Amino acid sequence: MPIEARYIAGHTGLLGQALLRAWEGRPDLRLVTATRQELDLTDARAVERFLAAARPDTVILAAGRVGGIAANQAQPAQFIHDNLMIEANLIHGAWKAGVARLLNFGSGCMYPTACPQPMRPEQLMTGPVEPTSEPYAMAKLAGLSLCAAYNRQYGTRFISAIPCTLYGPGDHFEGPDAHVLSALIAKFHEAKAARRPSVTLWGSGNARREFLHVDDMASACETLLSRAEGAEPINVGSGTSQTIRELAELIRGVVGYEGGIGWDASRPDGAPDKRLDSSAIRALGWAPRTELREGIERTYAWFREHQARRSSEVACVSS
Ligand SMILES: NC(=O)c1ccc[n+]([C@@H]2O[C@H](COP(=O)([O-])OP(=O)(O)OC[C@H]3O[C@@H](n4cnc5c(N)ncnc54)[C@H](OP(=O)(O)O)[C@@H]3O)[C@@H](O)[C@H]2O)c1
Repeated sequence: MPIEARYIAGHTGLLGQALLRAWEGRPDLRLVTATRQELDLTDARAVERFLAAARPDTVILAAGRVGGIAANQAQPAQFIHDNLMIEANLIHGAWKAGVARLLNFGSGCMYPTACPQPMRPEQLMTGPVEPTSEPYAMAKLAGLSLCAAYNRQYGTRFISAIPCTLYGPGDHFEGPDAHVLSALIAKFHEAKAARRPSVTLWGSGNARREFLHVDDMASACETLLSRAEGAEPINVGSGTSQTIRELAELIRGVVGYEGGIGWDASRPDGAPDKRLDSSAIRALGWAPRTELREGIERTYAWFREHQARRSSEVACVSS
């Protein structure tokens, strides 16, 4: 059986960890990884050297600077710089190393703010993107354009997927890089433990979002690698959406927090609606398996276990 060498750039991240879980132990794959300490992906020469030595058959571009509205607003320069550098280095480096296939990830925030819903790839670049995440969105659009240009000029098969908001084990729950769903889990958990009477959340709660469990995204990646041509970017969404208010109520129930929820409408909502038309990947035979409530329950269980392990490690170090 021929063995495919698959390099997962960003294997320590939310998506990268899910891909490792999905692919580890498969006899037809040799997984290649490198930590940030071993390989800084913003360093073009280091990336070229690494790819020339590792000679992967496939590159999975799951590395990048990712975060919520607060992080995007606090570090706009890092969001555009790091993502542009990582994409350019890996896409150019992959082509130079003769890599046949690459999987790149865009984001729903690349679509225009006023995009008709659900959003379709042909609507990309038909209007201005949401200002709160513009630098990140511009870098992600450049990644798509890079893949398309290399495919056109060099005949590569560099595929771009556009996932909706992902969540699951290994997500960022706290700090500036936290994503909304996981940040809500941590916030309600902390409020419950501290017996706070209420929590205040950013925005009006009316923004509508689509969430996909990261293990379902990992199975979508396999479908894309085996069946997508690479000519057009492909949306990957769960097909169901919630307002942030509905999501907060759902998470409050899963966590068992009995206090109130206040909304700070002076804070930005981000784009009012972001739902993806995922008919193209559905036509390739993929469908998500994890219902949102079940996914949140599993993610909350992981968060508690992880937190307990972290606390016991801190206790060991300080004792
Ligand atoms: N999460 C979502 O909701 C979502 C939605 C749509 C699209 N996407 C896209 O999916 C991809 C993966 O997202 P994610 O949520 O898994 O991100 P993540 O959890 O933040 O992980 C990012 C990964 O990139 C690595 N990385 C960042 N800068 C690096 C550098 N300079 N050198 C080496 N490694 C570096 C990180 O390494 P460290 O562990 O060392 O930091 C980590 O492994 C991104 O392209 C993102 O835009 C994500």
